[in-house]
Amino acid sequence: MARRGVFITLEGPEGSGKSSQARWLVQRLRRAGHRVTLVRDPGSTALGRSLRRALLHTSAELSPLAEALLFIGGRVQLVEERIRPALAKGRVVVCDRFHDSTVAYQGFGGQLDVPWLDRVGRAAIRRVMPDVTVLLDVPTAVGFARLRRSRDRMERKALAFHRRVRAGFLRLAKREPKRFVVIDASQPAAAVRREIEMIVSSEFGVRSSESRRALRIPHSPLRTP
Ligand code: TMP
Repeated sequence: MARRGVFITLEGPEGSGKSSQARWLVQRLRRAGHRVTLVRDPGSTALGRSLRRALLHTSAELSPLAEALLFIGGRVQLVEERIRPALAKGRVVVCDRFHDSTVAYQGFGGQLDVPWLDRVGRAAIRRVMPDVTVLLDVPTAVGFARLRRSRDRMERKALAFHRRVRAGFLRLAKREPKRFVVIDASQPAAAVRREIEMIVSSEFGVRSSESRRALRIPHSPLRTP
């Protein structure tokens, strides 16, 4: 199946506000006339929802490698069942977390072999990688202050783990500057929305070259419908 749509992922450490921004981005794109599919990883398939419960809402200790492979397995199902068909129909797919989360959390956070995990993760999803990844970066302490009291298994991990996750995301962004756009998510939500708005307008039509420079987008991987 040929791929015609545009694939956007949102990534970030805990408390980055990524899920609300993903919902807002979808509304914004739909208002602009795009056909948009919103999914989240893990989730958005029956397997993904079961894995989400098994991985996040449990008190069991899990081996980081088992955890990584389960996240990857859930993602394979998500790509095959939801993402690839939507892209083939020319839709814009917005995905809340994706492959980079496995590399940042299980690789950098869980101290697995990062290049190996990156290779295995990409091979499993047959290289269906995002055109653009918006990284909502937030210092660990600021993100944690925003979390609700009842925390899931990941949120209960030590601050040192989450600091490695944040640093890992920033390393990934530096390594692939053409794919990543980094936004300072310690700003108020409205300011973050304005920056995402600039990406939407610069990548999907009406745009100013200033906004591209401000956001350090070196080229446009996206196409207008
Ligand atoms: P969220 O979707 O509400 O952000 O929660 C997902 C949690 O799972 C979050 O703590 C990050 C974590 N996670 C991983 O550790 N590895 C992964 O590959 C993915 C997709 C998520």
